[in-house]
Amino acid sequence: MAPDRNLFVLITGASSGIGAALAEVYARRGGRLALFARRRERLGEVAARCLAAGASEARVLVGDHTRPEDVAQAVTALASWPRIDRAYLNAGGAAGTDGDHFVDCCAAGNQTGSSFSAAIADGVMRLNYSGHLYWLDPLLARMAAQGGGTIAVTGSMAADGALPRSGPYTASKLALRALVDGLRFEAEPRGIRLCLIEPGYVATEMTTGVHFRMPFLRSADEAAAAFVRGVEAGVPVIRFPWQLSLLNRLTSLVPRSLRTLWWRQVLAPLK
Ligand SMILES: NC(=O)c1ccc[n+]([C@@H]2O[C@H](COP(=O)([O-])OP(=O)(O)OC[C@H]3O[C@@H](n4cnc5c(N)ncnc54)[C@H](OP(=O)(O)O)[C@@H]3O)[C@@H](O)[C@H]2O)c1
Repeated sequence: MAPDRNLFVLITGASSGIGAALAEVYARRGGRLALFARRRERLGEVAARCLAAGASEARVLVGDHTRPEDVAQAVTALASWPRIDRAYLNAGGAAGTDGDHFVDCCAAGNQTGSSFSAAIADGVMRLNYSGHLYWLDPLLARMAAQGGGTIAVTGSMAADGALPRSGPYTASKLALRALVDGLRFEAEPRGIRLCLIEPGYVATEMTTGVHFRMPFLRSADEAAAAFVRGVEAGVPVIRFPWQLSLLNRLTSLVPRSLRTLWWRQVLAPLK
């Protein structure tokens, strides 16, 4: 990728994992970065790494994207930028809120039978779906006004089909896929490209506690490089790695009853 010191890039969920790795790719290109997430200290560390790697600017924006007022504040802070060329809406995860406690909705026991929690499932939906809406609204307006731009939203290959204990997460990413696919039709005539990023398994904080062997696990750096390549080439749906994407596509051809039987066998020891 050619260096561009005047490329303005916003990344949400930039304090760790894929988002931090995306930031470093654009930093090496010399871009101007705005990094949004809740943990100020972690964002500061990522910003320092980006500046050392060549970023022309690394702005820290602290906020929770499930809170519209936090997103509005971040959008106001970005008004001083002449434009936003790329917006990676990447914040998300498998944690839902249950009152004051954040709980991993994929952790054993939380989404099985009687331990199902509507509050957790709703929290996951707000994290992986609603939070993006608060960003999309002002970003679409701003990019239309500036004559174009690219918005890349991080979904998940989990949207290909629900696994045991991951129903709420899969539902949230499936909703996001439908949203982006639909919005693309409205955005394109206004010069805005919408990309849907669907990672397979990536080694990040989110997958640290996963209880099974993750097939085709990749590093955050490998994933970020593939996503930036796809976004810069204008690919509308970017799935990485291709091996898991293919496996999921083939699996979807197997009758649902057989798939369910198989998952019961595979995950039985985890109960
Ligand atoms: N890792 C995988 O295997 C995998 C697979 C498919 C899809 N994904 C998706 O990839 C994206 C990035 O995840 P990751 O794997 O890089 O995990 P990660 O290291 O846990 O990163 C998640 C990022 O989202 C931020 N975040 C979480 N809740 C937030 C909130 N309410 N408001 C603002 N920021 C928030 C976190 O920062 P703070 O905690 O500082 O807010 C962090 O920067 C997520 O959308 C995830 O669903 C990951």
